Amino acid sequence: MLHTPTVIPLDRPTRAPQTELPPVSERLEGIVPDVERVVLEPLIEEIEALKVERNAVVLAHNYMTPDIFYGVADLRGDSLQLARLAAETEADVIVMAGVHFMAETAKIVNPSKTVLIPDTRAGCSLAESISGADVRLLRERYPGVPVVTYVNTSADVKAESDICCTSSNAVKVVESLGVDRVIFLPDQYLGRWVASQTNVDVILWQGSCIVHEKFTGDELRHYRTMWPGVEIIAHPECPPDVLEEADFVGSTSGMIHYVADNKPRQVLMVTECSMADNVAVESPGTEFVRPCVLCPHMQRITVENIRDALVHMRHEVVVEPTVADRARLAVERMLAVGPSK
Ligand code: 13P
Ligand code: SF4
Repeated sequence: MLHTPTVIPLDRPTRAPQTELPPVSERLEGIVPDVERVVLEPLIEEIEALKVERNAVVLAHNYMTPDIFYGVADLRGDSLQLARLAAETEADVIVMAGVHFMAETAKIVNPSKTVLIPDTRAGCSLAESISGADVRLLRERYPGVPVVTYVNTSADVKAESDICCTSSNAVKVVESLGVDRVIFLPDQYLGRWVASQTNVDVILWQGSCIVHEKFTGDELRHYRTMWPGVEIIAHPECPPDVLEEADFVGSTSGMIHYVADNKPRQVLMVTECSMADNVAVESPGTEFVRPCVLCPHMQRITVENIRDALVHMRHEVVVEPTVADRARLAVERMLAVGPSK
């Protein structure tokens, strides 16, 4: 039987570790089936004890599955929020329940902390699409043009960049530079989206997200015929025909806020599909139309490997200090610009 869930609202990404979560026995009520809770609860109890022993905090991206998102995470958010939370935390250990670039960013902004990623294979197709050497070549080709780099990149790439951005502040970051042309790396679709929202000329790289590039405008039009009145909200990593068809475009947190503020009767979130599971928990009046595309990298993170990360203090994320110092400048410039709204 499903119970009324006890949850921390999605629009409250921060809390002091070990102070406000409901008891482990209540966290997953109504969120995962009882049969799974029997297995998960002892693991989560173990994680709670290890967090205290190690003075650790678990940061979780919005794409984490509900067992992690509601059962394990201390702090949650989109890429920008996670970078900010990592910079602010007083815990000694940060476990990143997300992908490698998020863990690296945490280490860059808070280098004295031990940052752990539970599975080193949790990468990102965007981060893999470009190297620091590629950025140096682009700078030679377009001398004097500032480089704006999506955080979905390695520390090496950030170190070669003028400023970073996330999907929640890309337009604001580009406009903050006060120039008429930028090099935007590496997501061609986010770059095109930014170009459509500004008068700034955008030089693109051919990177893309293996999750968001799968959606098409035709597919969304098909869903509209099947669910007339459905509100379609999309992540800006989607191709232009998808974004044209969407009623709203925003980061993962932007999409969460859209649902909380507008309470649509039916919604289709055009993004990684674990997020709809999380948002649905807190949106009882909304029906979610769910084409499901999962990110294989995000899916690498499990309750078990978070526990193992804390038991064995693995896998520590290390960024070479001279690279980290240069990358930090680009990330801190982004943090100073802040979110779009
Ligand atoms: P957000 O910054 O919107 O959370 O996006 C991160 C990401 O990897 C999307 O695929
Ligand atoms: Fe990278 Fe796409 Fe996965 Fe996000 S969803 S981590 S952009 S591959």
